[in-house]
Amino acid sequence: MPAVVAEDVIRSATARWELIDPLLPDPKPPASEGCGAELAVPAANGRAAAVGWCRHRKVRQGAADLAWGAAAQFWLTARVAGDPAEPGLGPALDELLTSWRAHLAAQPATDGADSQAAVSWPSRDTGGVLALLRHGLQPLTVLAARPAGRATPAPDTALGNLRIRPASTGDVAAFTALTLEVIRFDQQFGSVQLRPDAERVERRAAERTLAEAEPWTWVAERGGQAVGLLVAEPPSRAAWISAVTSRRPVAYLGTLSVRPEERGSGVGTALVAELHRQLDAAGVAVTLLHHGVLNPLSAPFWNRMGYRPLWTNWEIRPASALR
Ligand SMILES: CC(C)(COP(=O)(O)OP(=O)(O)OC[C@H]1O[C@@H](n2cnc3c(N)ncnc32)[C@H](O)[C@@H]1OP(=O)(O)O)[C@@H](O)C(=O)NCCC(=O)NCCS
Repeated sequence: MPAVVAEDVIRSATARWELIDPLLPDPKPPASEGCGAELAVPAANGRAAAVGWCRHRKVRQGAADLAWGAAAQFWLTARVAGDPAEPGLGPALDELLTSWRAHLAAQPATDGADSQAAVSWPSRDTGGVLALLRHGLQPLTVLAARPAGRATPAPDTALGNLRIRPASTGDVAAFTALTLEVIRFDQQFGSVQLRPDAERVERRAAERTLAEAEPWTWVAERGGQAVGLLVAEPPSRAAWISAVTSRRPVAYLGTLSVRPEERGSGVGTALVAELHRQLDAAGVAVTLLHHGVLNPLSAPFWNRMGYRPLWTNWEIRPASALR
C-alpha cells in the first residue's frame, strides 16, 4: 500500500491514542509487520480511513507458546483514523475486518481446528468494540500494565509461617507443577490449552529460567512446601513485548500461581509485593502481564495490585470462523 496512505491514518491514530491512553506507543507498526497483503479502507475524501497488516505465525510443536495460543495464528494490526468523539472509527474498522476476512478466506490454514484469527486493540479505544464483536471476535485476554509507583496493598502480617524466597535450580519440580496449575485453571476461559506434552515443555522452561543469572522467580513456601510461584522477566528479557507501550524500561510478569487450597489467604499479594519491591529497585517504568478476561480471580486481583487494561486481545477459532 502506498506509504502516504498509511501515513494519513497513522497521524490520526497517533493523535487519538495520545488522548485516550498515555501508555500506548507510537501507532506506527514495525517495518517487518505483515504477510504482504495490502489492506486499506478508503475514506470519503479519497484518502484512507483504515489500514491493516496481516501477520501469519506458525507456532512449532513443543514450544511453550502453544499453551497460550493456537498453532496457526493470523494477527491483524489495525490502524484506524478518527478522533474519539467521531462515529466514523467503527465503520472504518468494520470495513477493514471485512477485507481481512476476504484475505483469510484464501489461506487454507485458517480452516484448521488449531488456528485463530486475532486482533490486539487498545483497551481504551472503545469506538472499535462493536465492530470487533460484529465480526465474531471475542475479547479473551487483556494485556494489563502497572506504571511505576502505583501502591501495592501491604501483605497481611498474619500470614503465619509463609515465607517468600527467591527460587533456585532446586525448584524445577515446584515451578513446573505450579505453572501447569495456571494453564489447567486458565483453559476454562477460552484461549489457553493444556497440550499433551505440557509437562515436558514446562519442565524445560523451568530449567531454562532457573538457570538464568537473575531468574526473577520467587516461591511462597509454607512448612517447607511450595504453595505459590511468581515468574517475571527483567527488562533485559522483556524486549519481545516492550513495543506495546510508550514507557521504558519494561518488565513482564509471566506467571503467578497459588495452590488451590491456599487461594484467598494473601499468598498472591505477598508474592506480588516482593516483585514490586524488586521492580522499584530496578527502576522499571512499567510492568506488563496477560490475564484472562473471563477469569474471575485474576481481573479483580490484578486491578487491586495496580494493573489496568492496556491492550485487549480479540480472537476467534478457527480463523476461518471470522464473520
Ligand atoms: C489469582 C491468584 C494468583 C491470586 O492469588 P491469591 O493468593 O488467591 O490472592 P490473595 O489471597 O492475595 O488475594 C485474593 C483474595 O483473597 C483475599 N485475601 C488476601 N489476603 C487475605 C487473608 N490474609 N485472609 C483472607 N483473605 C485474604 C483478598 O482480599 C482477595 O479477596 P477478594 O478477591 O475476594 O477481594 C490465585 O487465586 C490463583 O492462583 N488463581 C488460579 C490461577 C490463576 O487464576 N492465575 C491467573 C493469574 S493471571
